[in-house]
Amino acid sequence: TKKTIAVLPGDGIGPEVTTAAINVLETIADKYDHHFTFQQGWIGGSAIDEKGDPLPRETKEMSAESDGILLGAVGGPKWDRLPGAERPEKGLLEIRKSLDLYANLRPVKAYASLIESSPLKEAIVANVDFLIVRELTGGLYFGEPKKREDIRGETQAIDTLLYKASEIKRIAERAFQAAQLRNGKVVSVDKANVLESSRLWRETVDDVHASYPDVELEHMLVDNAAMQLIAQPAAFDVMVTENTFGDILSDEASMLTGSLGLLPSASLGSTGVGLYEPVHGSAPDIAGENRANPLAAISSAAMMVKYGFKMEKEAEKIETAVEKVLADGYRTADIAPKMEEAVTTTEMTDAVIKALE
Ligand code: NAI
Ligand code: MG
Repeated sequence: TKKTIAVLPGDGIGPEVTTAAINVLETIADKYDHHFTFQQGWIGGSAIDEKGDPLPRETKEMSAESDGILLGAVGGPKWDRLPGAERPEKGLLEIRKSLDLYANLRPVKAYASLIESSPLKEAIVANVDFLIVRELTGGLYFGEPKKREDIRGETQAIDTLLYKASEIKRIAERAFQAAQLRNGKVVSVDKANVLESSRLWRETVDDVHASYPDVELEHMLVDNAAMQLIAQPAAFDVMVTENTFGDILSDEASMLTGSLGLLPSASLGSTGVGLYEPVHGSAPDIAGENRANPLAAISSAAMMVKYGFKMEKEAEKIETAVEKVLADGYRTADIAPKMEEAVTTTEMTDAVIKALE
């Protein structure tokens, strides 16, 4: 199969970790007789420096025409003083919006082999392996009116929590479909006891569920969900929720696994072009030192292959290779018990490639 992949390395460690992911994808293409073409584009701070725009038109067009977008990270101290509308992050927000990437998928998985030998072992919770499906383009962050006004001498501020049934339906479908590829259990998180938007959320999720009788559905209030994530995180399979709740719960959940350097994400939309990126940022403190953990980016590439290209075998191959290198004791600096035992970004990547062969 032929696929064109837009690669947007961005800033900081972005170029190092996306290079690692490309190498892994090339190995997969060789092994399974696929043809992947990689097209590089500017985004973020480096795009501001090169093109005067955090999302140049060429990047946007090339990305829209691709079969999938692999992104590193954007931002860094160099651009921190720019006003909001000109910042590197604007590039990321704009590409999500222009491709209508409404479904943010974040797997939260604790690798068993890290529990024994890791400075993070206390933070890692055994058997955690679930997926958060967060609605990304609706709700409180986007609803109108969103403004300040002065009423009788006092300032007040308004944000609007608005969801259309169609927006809920499409994210619920994503969640049920994802559950079919996993363990067939969905927990839908809302606040239906007090919010009207949550009552519509719950009804709509129930309606969609009728078409997925093979998936088990449970509704959970968000305050309880925040508690259950700590109390029994291993019980979750797929969690689906609206934008604000998902923002908070996904950051909470990421800490169950110990390290940011391991966590991938996918943002999927209506156009069929998805965006795949590590959860971590541009890590300016270690950029250019060949020290970054490439596994989050490599796992993001696995998500591209799985959700974007529907190549489940190939995705599983990458996931197994990542598990194997960790089980074999390869540790980048962020997860190494002793600094002198840490491997470099390229050594970790080579180990994954070897595990693929
Ligand atoms: P960060 O995720 O870049 O770094 C936090 C800490 O984790 C740092 O100590 C870093 O060295 C470490 N770290 C992160 N990824 C790592 C990896 N793969 N391997 C080893 N260590 C890793 O978050 P921070 O420092 O808050 O933000 C730095 C810049 O990144 C900022 O400009 C921020 O706006 C941007 N950022 C971009 C995101 C994106 O592009 N999606 C997401 C989060 C932050
Ligand atoms: Mg957040």
